Amino acid sequence: MNEIKAFIFDLDGVLVFTDAFHYQAWKKMADRMGIYFDETINNRLRGVSRMESLEIILEKYDGTLSGEEKEALATEKNEAYRELLKTMTPEDVSEEVRSTLDELRTRGYRLAIGSSSKNARFILEKVGLLDFFDAISDGNNIKNSKPDPEVFVKAAEYLGEKPEHCIVVEDAYAGVDAAKAGGMRAAAIGDAASYEKADIVLGTFSDLLGCC
Ligand code: BG6
Ligand code: MG
Repeated sequence: MNEIKAFIFDLDGVLVFTDAFHYQAWKKMADRMGIYFDETINNRLRGVSRMESLEIILEKYDGTLSGEEKEALATEKNEAYRELLKTMTPEDVSEEVRSTLDELRTRGYRLAIGSSSKNARFILEKVGLLDFFDAISDGNNIKNSKPDPEVFVKAAEYLGEKPEHCIVVEDAYAGVDAAKAGGMRAAAIGDAASYEKADIVLGTFSDLLGCC
C-alpha cells in the first residue's frame, strides 16, 4: 500500500450534517411550485451539485422552464438554505470529529476539504473548522461535480500531494466513485458504508485513526 500523507474530507454528511437543511430548503421551493418532493428524492441529491439537484427535483415537474427560471429556483433554494446555515455553531461538530481531525494533524497528515458545495467555506466558518484545513477545494473551483474526480484532484493539487498518497472520506456513492476515478483510496461512512467500491469502511469517524 502507498504511504498515506493526506486526508481529503467531503463536508456535508461527513464533518457536518446539513442534509436536513438541504431538504427543508428544497422542500420550500418545491411546495411553492407544486412539485412533489420527499426524503427519498432528497437522498439522491447527496454529493450532487446544486443545479444537478434541481434537475432531479424537476423530474416531477410537468412544465418546461428556461435556464433563467432554473437559475432563479436554485437561488431561491440557496437563500433559504443559507438562512438555515446561519443557525449553525461549533456545537454542530461532534467532539469525535474535532478530536479525530486534531489527532490526524498531530500525526503530521495534511488535511483538505473536497466538497461539491459552494457554501463550504461559510459552513466551515460557522462551525469553527476553517483552521483545521491546509486546502479547500469546493463547488467554486470545479466545472464537473462528483462522480467526476475534479474536486478531489484539485484538493490533492492544492496540498501538493499525489492522489495515491491521499485518502478521501465520503458519505456519498458518487463521492466514492469520484475518489476512485481520481486514483485515491476511498474511506466510506454513513450511507456510502455499504458501497462495495469503498476501500475502507468506517463504522464511526474516529476509525480513521486506525486505518493507515
Ligand atoms: C453537497 C451536498 O455537499 O453540496 C449536495 O451533498 C448539494 O446535496 C451540493 O447539492 C451543493 O451544495 P451548495 O451548497 O453549493 O448548494
Ligand atoms: Mg456528502
